[in-house]
Amino acid sequence: MNNRIEIVRGDITKLKIDAIVNAANRSLLGGGGVDGAIHRAAGPKLLEECRTLGGCQTGEAKITKGYKLPAKYVIHTVGPVWHDGNNNEDKLLAGCYKNSLKVAVENKIKTIAFPAISTGVYSFPFERATKIAFETVSDFLIENKIIEKVIFVCFSEGDYILYKKLLDDYSSD
Ligand code: AR6
Repeated sequence: MNNRIEIVRGDITKLKIDAIVNAANRSLLGGGGVDGAIHRAAGPKLLEECRTLGGCQTGEAKITKGYKLPAKYVIHTVGPVWHDGNNNEDKLLAGCYKNSLKVAVENKIKTIAFPAISTGVYSFPFERATKIAFETVSDFLIENKIIEKVIFVCFSEGDYILYKKLLDDYSSD
């Protein structure tokens, strides 16, 4: 299992991979954070395609091409905004990972990279979000053999160290 999961530190827009996941908002028309970085690197054609999608519900995922990105596709998902944990945040975040992977499989994608969805502007507590990410992805990979590699991309050194530690903890449970 763990040889199909990798954690890397860096900028997700640089990865040459089948698909990268975007932590978008419901409009799918761009924003700040990783969303802004992906749109900048992909170029204006990405926004053009996003305009045809009619937005996306929280917890769901939609796919576009990658345009100028080294990645072939972008899977746009909308994480929940963190309130207090009593607004279905955990389930919605799990939905982001699960539905992104489902869309990947439907499109014959074998390698996919995720940012830490909802942990920036949307303020989801980092450790809680990371555990949900591992659990959801691990469960999916057990059921589905098509996906060969899932990469978790951490933008900062601190996030990277924490992800590594939490994956070790998760794997030894
Ligand atoms: N590569 C990898 N990870 C990144 C990058 C990058 N280039 N840039 C930021 N991160 P955020 P959210 C990390 O705020 O919380 C946007 O405006 C960042 O360190 O991008 O889901 C959208 O349009 C953090 O850990 O997404 C929405 O309105 C993680 O990506 C809203 O923000 C997610 O932070 C979504 O908020």
